[in-house]
Amino acid sequence: MTHLLVAYGTSRGGTRGLAELIGQDLRDHDHEATVRAAADVKNLDGVDAVIVAGALYAGRWHKDARKLIKREADRLSELPVWLVATGPLDDTAETTQIAPVHHVSDAAARIGARGVQTFGGRLEPDAKGFPASAMAKTMAGDWRDAEHVARWVDEVDGELRSIQS
Ligand SMILES: Cc1cc2nc3c(=O)[nH]c(=O)nc-3n(C[C@H](O)[C@H](O)[C@H](O)COP(=O)(O)O)c2cc1C
Repeated sequence: MTHLLVAYGTSRGGTRGLAELIGQDLRDHDHEATVRAAADVKNLDGVDAVIVAGALYAGRWHKDARKLIKREADRLSELPVWLVATGPLDDTAETTQIAPVHHVSDAAARIGARGVQTFGGRLEPDAKGFPASAMAKTMAGDWRDAEHVARWVDEVDGELRSIQS
């Protein structure tokens, strides 16, 4: 059984929910999955593969995701790793293959990630803080798509099985 760590960087909780979806889909494929805040990951002992998910803010990948890559770059370079960004508040992540922001593509190059993926984001109608509260007046919604996530986890599972065989 493969033990995956799904680490997330979030400011408003949406990426934690996405990471939990990914974790559940991995378990449905008979993997062991630990879902944890990236800031709380102290080491990668006992982990066979890693997914790092981070929210997008102003074109930047969440700092907790970036810091985890920096902290654990050597170990991550030895493991199968996938990088996830979550952000678009519309269906573009579902209908198009969005190019990763430079933080994500730089991190992927640094550690030799197996893949990068962008999923839709979520903004709650009562989001606090500026400019989130102003944005929420016109852009609130949940664009995290469980079927999109499940299809992507199918691909990750296929790769993991081909690595093991
Ligand atoms: C101030 C602000 C800036 C944002 N900038 C981007 C962005 O540059 N690109 C993007 O795709 N989504 C952007 N979003 C949407 C967020 O990425 C989305 O709401 C995401 O799900 C937030 O994740 P979190 O709830 O885990 O913090 C932005 C949202 C806010 C409130």
